[in-house]
Amino acid sequence: MSENKRASFGGKLSVILVAAGSAIGLGALWRFPYIAGKHGGAAFLLVFLLSVLAVGIPAMLAEFAVGRSTRQNAVGAFRSISRKWSWLGYCGVICAVLISGYYYIIAGWSLEYLVNSATGSLFASDLSFKEQFEAFQGSYRPLWYCIAFILLTHFIVARGVEKGIEKASKVMMPALFVILLVMAVRVAFMPGAAEGYRFFLSCDFAEAFKPETIMMAMGQAFFSLSVGMGCMVIYASYFKKNNNLLSTSLNVSLLTIFVSVLAGLVIFPAVFSAGLEPTEGPSLVFVTLPEIFSGIPLASVWATAFFVLVALASLTSTISFHEVITAYISEEFKVGRRVSATITTLVSILLCTVTFFSLFGVDFFTLFDYLSANIIMPLGALITCIIVMWFMKKEFMPGELTNHGSVNRAVTPLVLFMLKYVTPVLIFYIFIKNFL
Ligand code: PHE
Repeated sequence: MSENKRASFGGKLSVILVAAGSAIGLGALWRFPYIAGKHGGAAFLLVFLLSVLAVGIPAMLAEFAVGRSTRQNAVGAFRSISRKWSWLGYCGVICAVLISGYYYIIAGWSLEYLVNSATGSLFASDLSFKEQFEAFQGSYRPLWYCIAFILLTHFIVARGVEKGIEKASKVMMPALFVILLVMAVRVAFMPGAAEGYRFFLSCDFAEAFKPETIMMAMGQAFFSLSVGMGCMVIYASYFKKNNNLLSTSLNVSLLTIFVSVLAGLVIFPAVFSAGLEPTEGPSLVFVTLPEIFSGIPLASVWATAFFVLVALASLTSTISFHEVITAYISEEFKVGRRVSATITTLVSILLCTVTFFSLFGVDFFTLFDYLSANIIMPLGALITCIIVMWFMKKEFMPGELTNHGSVNRAVTPLVLFMLKYVTPVLIFYIFIKNFL
């Protein structure tokens, strides 16, 4: 695709929905509740909020600026700033590959649960939900569903930026908000819900300010906002020149926080109402949620709605890291979009197969998750902030943030100060503190 023919997203709302589509996904609905459950509920939420404000939003702005100004994929974007930074773009592509190696697997679980809820078999079985989950894990079904999910992603990405990605996000994101809100109201009326709220909203500051918790919260902020691996670079490369980067990043972050909190408000009351442990781990959503639905009328309908929600949210996220790789291949090797999307899809299938079969040996699952969220993304964000503030022309960031003097003039100095000093120092400090 040549520069002047490059696709772009439509109006302001489309841009927010597409970027929020990437951000909101398993990170908010699945990862956040189980990590928060392990690290003290609201205490974790507090540190997470601070991380989003202090490091997530500034780093997202830096990526937006790089993407919109260069209008290229992650590798091309950093290379066009300077040859010596192209490796950062490659790190982003590698990170997208690593995330592909496990994200589709969990997304596939949601598809299986969606099908089983819709057909009613989830509630018809004699096995407990935990046993059903284990039986499912012990079969080949997760692999088939994972591949189905990759193919679903493939068809949307292959259709292109406007007809595929933008159109899908505009339908799926509003649907997601509605389903989640209805669920939150429903759960509030379940017996024992109060205990869940108490757990989720109680504050344990000693836990919250442990270096390990802070590191997890920061990793969660980057993962959940899709920041630090070039995803927002490529999405911003489809923004229009007059897009207000600051308001887009604030809207995307607010929506992500809103969905994460709402997911907590759905899941914890539900967990306690079913008499389960809030620290269940990665299976939290899949074992506990059916448990709750099973006690109520129209169980299958509720469960189906919930898993439709998880699958939709995952899909708008898988599209975005698929796009990181697809755009890289198509622009750097000058091949068509369908060819590059197909290569990306095949690589993803291969990697997920490896992860699937080694789930029992090497834990690629935890490894890929840890490497991407806690190492590559924080470092990627750190270096991006340093590049835009210390290595680019002085006018670069102010120009991008204010659209060359037309918007946000009052707050820009504060944002620049954060980007130049606060954000990089914080990321660096948390990183070092955790590893030394
Ligand atoms: N932000 C997505 C989520 O929370 C995951 C993601 C990470 C997507 C990195 C793209 C890039 O589910």
